[in-house]
Amino acid sequence: MTNSQRKILVTSALPYANGPIHLGHMLEYIQTDIWSRYQKLRGHECHYICADDAHGTPIMLKAQQMGITPEEMIAQVQKEHEQDFADFNIQFDNFHSTHSDENRELASDIYLKLRDGGYIKTKTISQLYDPEKEMFLPDRFVKGTCPKCKSEDQYGDNCDNCGATYSTTDLINPYSVVSGATPVMKDSEHFFFDLPAFETMLGEWLSSGSLQPEIANKLREWFDQGLQQWDISRDAPYFGFEIPEQPGKFFYVWLDAPIGYMGSFKNLCDKRDDLNFDEYWNKDSSTELYHFIGKDIVNFHGLFWPAMLDGAGVRKPTSVFAHGYVTVNGAKMSKSKGTFIKARTYLDNLNPEYLRYYYAAKLNSRVDDLDLNLEDFAQRVNSDLVGKLVNLASRTAGFISKRFEGKLAKINDMSLTEAFLAKQDLIADLYETREFGKAMREIMALADMANAYVADAAPWQLIKDEAKQEEAHQVCSNALNLFRILVTYLKPVLPQLAEKVESFLQLTLTWDNLNQDLAGHEIAKFKALMQRIEMKSIEAIIEASTENLQVAETKAPKAEQVQTELEKEPLAPEITFDDFAKVDLRIALIAKAEHIEKANKLLRLELDLGGETKQVFAGIKSAYAPEDLIGKHTVMVANLAPRKMKFGESEGMVLAAGPGGKDIWILEPHAGAKPGMRVM
Ligand code: MSP
Ligand code: ZN
Repeated sequence: MTNSQRKILVTSALPYANGPIHLGHMLEYIQTDIWSRYQKLRGHECHYICADDAHGTPIMLKAQQMGITPEEMIAQVQKEHEQDFADFNIQFDNFHSTHSDENRELASDIYLKLRDGGYIKTKTISQLYDPEKEMFLPDRFVKGTCPKCKSEDQYGDNCDNCGATYSTTDLINPYSVVSGATPVMKDSEHFFFDLPAFETMLGEWLSSGSLQPEIANKLREWFDQGLQQWDISRDAPYFGFEIPEQPGKFFYVWLDAPIGYMGSFKNLCDKRDDLNFDEYWNKDSSTELYHFIGKDIVNFHGLFWPAMLDGAGVRKPTSVFAHGYVTVNGAKMSKSKGTFIKARTYLDNLNPEYLRYYYAAKLNSRVDDLDLNLEDFAQRVNSDLVGKLVNLASRTAGFISKRFEGKLAKINDMSLTEAFLAKQDLIADLYETREFGKAMREIMALADMANAYVADAAPWQLIKDEAKQEEAHQVCSNALNLFRILVTYLKPVLPQLAEKVESFLQLTLTWDNLNQDLAGHEIAKFKALMQRIEMKSIEAIIEASTENLQVAETKAPKAEQVQTELEKEPLAPEITFDDFAKVDLRIALIAKAEHIEKANKLLRLELDLGGETKQVFAGIKSAYAPEDLIGKHTVMVANLAPRKMKFGESEGMVLAAGPGGKDIWILEPHAGAKPGMRVM
């Protein structure tokens, strides 16, 4: 193997450090992990690198909302991400952060090379700015009324209601999601990466055949529309790296994010003597570099990133492998349906290897979306993994330990063993080309053959017959040998099961050892390897995912999700000072407060204005008991025309806020204000 040993660097996209990992993300990490484990199983030197993507406006604002620094938040999120990945048996060789020294140095270095090569331009552009928060607003932080259908609260660039797309500046009554302020246009100088300068190189890259055809076509569309200058700077305040020699200007998160792949690898190289960073990244590197990504980020990886690398004199990826999106039960993952399933919620209820297997069984090398149909998932796992695979061992292993001192007989069903071994190149090729679904089908077809053999030979019958003990020994040994080959084939997908089987069979499962001779080999006692999925676990996941939403919303209302008070009740039209001065607001002492017979909503208040007393009927019965009000100060509208009501005349109003019911709050002045004082 040494001669043909490949050196491979493989990455998954870096998850944003402002939210939990969910089952959509997991498709990518599972896909990459299977591929990388397969390479390692074949004896190649393969390094699987990842990191948290820690920069950008959403992360900065989320930390502010939580009342902590971005550094604190990304550290906390990274810990959770790493735990989720570890529990799904994702075997990263290194998991780092884009907010690291390595990444800062590499990003500066690449930027300076691009600048010195003449690939960085500057231009003044005008953008929406939040005058209250004093920051420029990315599109998703501006909302307003759709210019086409007039539906309210639509996002900056497209309307959820009528599907229209428009420019943020076309919104009617735009407002900042961050502060509620009306955005204004403001000029600022931005830095641009000169993508068009790489047209020739990118044209060759797109037709090199190293990309998936769908991806090459999609990129070709953008390419043919004409490459544009790419805006790589953002103004302070921004959580990211400041651009060298440009105080107040920061790298846009997507500039330093892919460099994070290099940063994470650099961090690994610094920890290990046997790894040389330059060997993997120099322009003529003979190592292989692959990026696994989702279909939503192909432009960054298929155009900007290779151009940046090329411009900075760094090697380009060997290929980019894009996958589609996960849907659950045929629809986009949804919080209200309980199908927006967090990795942690899944792990609290089910074995990670079930999902690894299901995704593997449905994955191919194309960019199709993948449906996680929860019923099909349970059924498939139960029938394939429990019914076919594990069953093979559980039906035969007991006899070996009970009757044959735990020792295996020499394999005598060579035709079946040979049929199994004959598939190794095909299965290897399917792993290599990311046709995992086809690989799983091949493997399960073999499992069917093995089960048919066992059912036919019926060792549980043979064992009852004194004269057929040897035959029973043979059949069980043959079955366990076939089981061994199957689990070796599945090792990249089911590392945890493989580990259990290794300790049960007392050997290491390697591709090189597929045809080892087990005659006389002693195995350990069989222990249960895997349970069936119960529908109630799946129901528990759905329930917890629906619950999570309610908890999340009450605990941490998100600016984008919960209507602000101003959204519920927009400000009234402007008035002049004179208009305001007409309203005579006075400090009042609540001298008396009482229930009124037959009144459901009203309390009767006597308000002392320092000599003069006014009677007011206030609709606050649902929120206050009279005894809680007596002796308190409040503010009243003192010159409101008296109004005849069912129970008497009301001579003013007390000021209060809130939607009603229990949620009514009366205004109370700071201590010191005296009854009768005017409020201005
Ligand atoms: N931070 C960027 C990537 C930077 S790479 C230099 C990002 N982060 S992400 O957290 O939004 O997504 C991480 C990966 O998960 C992306 O490849 C994305 O396509 C993938 N997925 C996110 N949701 C997904 C599904 N529902 N289904 C499949 N993959 C999904 O993008
Ligand atoms: Zn609309």
